[in-house]
Amino acid sequence: ADPDPLQDFCVADLNATFSVNGYPCKPISQTTSEDFFFDGLSKEGNTSTIFGASVTSGNVQSFPGLNTLGISMNRVDFAPGGLNPPHSHPRATESGVIIQGKLLVGFVTTDNVFHSKVLTAGQMFVIPRGLVHFQLNVGVGKALAFTAFNSHLPGVVLQAPTLFASAPPIPNQVLTKAFQVGDDVINNIKSKFGA
Ligand code: GLV
Ligand code: MN
Repeated sequence: ADPDPLQDFCVADLNATFSVNGYPCKPISQTTSEDFFFDGLSKEGNTSTIFGASVTSGNVQSFPGLNTLGISMNRVDFAPGGLNPPHSHPRATESGVIIQGKLLVGFVTTDNVFHSKVLTAGQMFVIPRGLVHFQLNVGVGKALAFTAFNSHLPGVVLQAPTLFASAPPIPNQVLTKAFQVGDDVINNIKSKFGA
């Protein structure tokens, strides 16, 4: 989903003091082989979170060599029962492969149809660009997946924090109407997300 590159590479200068649509390139004379390798996905993420899952990103912000090349990857670790909660990526389609364990993978289309399947090691999935999706560990042990995106910075919109933990908060008047519940329910959900 990213524009085509205009040169072989453009290792991102994440600290540039000027701004463009994306990151400017660091000078070619300062580029080294190290710019094209990244070991940030080699370690298991910390799954001791409320969701029991952890997403480690290999995108342009952690791996500047990806800049302008239109791809990136994540590592997703799951404790037993862990959930990578409903979210969407505004700038990329996602594909993934399960390395270990058993995951229920699902997404919902713009026609509100839910597609899902339980996958095990070696099996792949695809999440069309922008659609809300999740992965739930339905196996007995840990689970591990790697995901890939056709953007160097897919972006992530997490549905629950977007609605219940924005800064400043969305007024309850909006949320009680949208979800057809009372202030008590909205305040309860807001409190779970630290709002
Ligand atoms: C999984 O959905 C991911 O975004 O890595
Ligand atoms: Mn995703």
